Amino acid sequence: MDSLAALLRTATRDQHAEAEASVFLAHLLGGRLDVGAYARYTEQLWCVYEALEAPAGRLASDPVAGPFVRPELFRLAALERDLAHLRGPGWRASLSALPATRAYAERIRACASRWPAGYVAHHYTRYLGDLSGGQFIRGRAEKTWGFARRGDGVRFYVFDRIQGPAAFKRDYRRLLDEVGADGPERQRMVAECRLAFALNTAVLRELGEECALPAA
Ligand code: HEM
Repeated sequence: MDSLAALLRTATRDQHAEAEASVFLAHLLGGRLDVGAYARYTEQLWCVYEALEAPAGRLASDPVAGPFVRPELFRLAALERDLAHLRGPGWRASLSALPATRAYAERIRACASRWPAGYVAHHYTRYLGDLSGGQFIRGRAEKTWGFARRGDGVRFYVFDRIQGPAAFKRDYRRLLDEVGADGPERQRMVAECRLAFALNTAVLRELGEECALPAA
């Protein structure tokens, strides 16, 4: 049987290119966003990681999702420090989720409570992406808005407890390959992963609309 990790990667290649080319991310990487737009993006990430990490304790003992629950990946505390820096101590009271973010977080929560393999598809889409492309975003954010290197504002992108991201990603892909899913279940996971990318793209689209960005 084909490797599930390879399957997920191949099945989402086009959508990855689409997300990467989104107007919002293109402007972010081009250093053309103001820090308020970056803070708004960080708020949406908080909503997503709250949905991913709140059920993690319960899922840690699940035979399918359990092996993926790795505290060294957790992002919520880092996001909270970033938001306190970006928005001040009252960040939580002023935070609001875009409609696309609400839909995304609800889908993660539904998978977390009913379908652990679906939760894994969401987990892969976010955390493996953060360990990869996230590093470009960090560099750009530090440069554009003058955040301290790996400091407040960009802690979300810093995985202090992961020494070698490349080795970590290799192990992670091995874990995916060890998910004992049969053919139809693997197809459902692929479909969920595609949905996860589409939900991310929808959030990026709404962020672009909110900031009234011109085409990149
Ligand atoms: C600024 C935008 C982005 C850039 C520059 C970027 C860049 C990259 C790069 C270079 C890799 C390859 C890493 C490797 O082969 O080890 C990667 C992988 C990945 N990215 Fe992105 N990315 C971006 C946005 C996104 C978004 C929005 C998502 C979805 C939420 C995402 C999800 C992923 C995933 C899941 C992988 C792992 C693919 C795999 O090896 O299985 N990326 N990204």
